[in-house]
Amino acid sequence: MISAQKDSVRYLDFSEPFVNSELYHSLRSQILDLLPQSIYSPSQESVDGFLSECVSSHESGAEKKLCFAALDDLNHVLGFVQFRSFSSDADLDFVLVSSHCRGRGIGKLLLQNSFLFLKRNGVERIILEVGTGNSAAKRLYVSLGFMEVSLRKNYYRSGEDALVMELLI
Ligand SMILES: CC(C)(COP(=O)(O)OP(=O)(O)OC[C@H]1O[C@@H](n2cnc3c(N)ncnc32)[C@H](O)[C@@H]1OP(=O)(O)O)[C@@H](O)C(=O)NCCC(=O)NCCS
Repeated sequence: MISAQKDSVRYLDFSEPFVNSELYHSLRSQILDLLPQSIYSPSQESVDGFLSECVSSHESGAEKKLCFAALDDLNHVLGFVQFRSFSSDADLDFVLVSSHCRGRGIGKLLLQNSFLFLKRNGVERIILEVGTGNSAAKRLYVSLGFMEVSLRKNYYRSGEDALVMELLI
């Protein structure tokens, strides 16, 4: 379940069944509490449904749902990322690092660790959308090697456009 450890941050993947449901419920409620920290957050209901599906049956048809979290040694959630994967492609739906620990490399390490896991499981390409005004996220993705492939006009409810980016892993 623990996929990597660096600088006292652990990376936990939700694709393994949770033997400790107390831990799962704690992580889920912490993740839901973090959502208001970003204007790009999906709704609480959709993330809650996503997390429940990750632990109950994370595979429906050809689609797999995966969530990874960065935790400190007290199991506090520092950040998380969710993916939907379809054979050799994975869509990065959403990534968030807690506002009090941004800019410390946690987002980048969280993504690098989850890409290693996805690669070991047959994923070859990561695709994502990012708001054209979200400079922190764009910088994060560019620093990981993502390339811009197209623009989706009025992609967000606010009317903001999204860049579509991809990375071959
Ligand atoms: C985007 C986000 C996940 C970045 O997480 P983070 O842990 O702060 O990022 P890191 O510290 O790992 O930084 C990774 C890279 O991005 C750059 N970066 C991070 N925040 C930045 C900012 N505010 N401005 C400019 N560059 C920034 C870093 O300099 C680093 O680049 P480098 O490796 O070339 O030095 C975080 O800002 C966040 O949670 N934002 C709100 C949610 C969101 O917008 N998610 C993306 C949309 S789905």
